Amino acid sequence: MSTTRVQSIQAIDASSFHGDKAKIYGFDAKGLIVLKGEDSDSDYPHFLPVWDPNEHYDPLTEFEFTDPGLRADPAFPNLLSQSNAEFTVKNLTPKFGTEVRGIQLSELSPEGKDELALFVAQRGVAVFREQNLRDKPIDWLLEYSSHFGRNHIHPTSGAPRGHPEVHLVYRSKTEAASENIFFKDHVSSVAWHSDVTYEKQPPGTTFLAILDGPESGGDTIFADTQEAYNRLSEPFRQRLHGLSVLHSGLAQADAAKNAGGVVRREPVENFHPLIREHPVTKEKALYVNQQFSRYIKGLKREESDAILNFLYDVLAKSADLQVRASWEPGTVVVWDNRRSVHSALVDWSGAGSSRHAFRLTPQAERPNEGEPLTQ
Ligand SMILES: [Fe+2]
Repeated sequence: MSTTRVQSIQAIDASSFHGDKAKIYGFDAKGLIVLKGEDSDSDYPHFLPVWDPNEHYDPLTEFEFTDPGLRADPAFPNLLSQSNAEFTVKNLTPKFGTEVRGIQLSELSPEGKDELALFVAQRGVAVFREQNLRDKPIDWLLEYSSHFGRNHIHPTSGAPRGHPEVHLVYRSKTEAASENIFFKDHVSSVAWHSDVTYEKQPPGTTFLAILDGPESGGDTIFADTQEAYNRLSEPFRQRLHGLSVLHSGLAQADAAKNAGGVVRREPVENFHPLIREHPVTKEKALYVNQQFSRYIKGLKREESDAILNFLYDVLAKSADLQVRASWEPGTVVVWDNRRSVHSALVDWSGAGSSRHAFRLTPQAERPNEGEPLTQ
């Protein structure tokens, strides 16, 4: 008897179309799919999503990656400058998640960016308030994020016109105003995942900056996959080591096609180790997520499902290894996609608010398990 739980990808994928397509989307003179009506109003019109049905990219190629965190001064002199008396750094929980005020990410030197990579690797997720990244030109932003790895082009999501490397999260104002149709066929919007893990070199240090959102609601929750690994018993950890898991982008691409969206690059599947070692901290973490992980290589179906579902449950149910990031105007959340999973929350409706954010998604190393455990 299989215990596989299949998530609705359409429900999860914040970048795909939502709601009544005919009301929300149309075509412009160049044949691009665009937002229409009040959804085309924004304080940041150059960040509104478009989808080009004729855009197509070759498969991604492998590239050399050195984590900038390896170059960082662990005292963080360039990130947490002691000359600035105004900044505050508050841990959201003892081991995972930090909120920072008074430090402007856009002003970091190259050394400061190296330290940011280390800081986020250590804390898992960092919530930076009152940032001005959203006011920078998109080319500037992509240059900025390229410090942390090669900018990823998402295969299906809406992107600003001319900038496919920027992933946009957009949930329609029209949909929100007409009741949240999401809950017509779901009881929960929680959908834990880490981003695009089907790629051979998935993202590492990842940035999400809010442009518009409801006054409350739309928070993002994060779970610490490193702490989850550390809580497992030694014999169970031993059993997990050496296993590899298939991560698949096929369902996401199918969902985009079925919704009338675009697929810019043919979907891929890759095996990654179930346990992943971080290249900078050398800490190990679970590397599975319900959205993209499919099965453990070499195990029988029910065995694989039992282990994966157990690990998903550990991450989803352990509130004592999670944090909740709220969004304020100007908030930028930076997380390490290698040692965390996250979920958006679709918990607002009726206010006529869109939720609009842009993600900078530098790709990192090919996941590896590191040294085997010694008994
Ligand atoms: Fe995500």
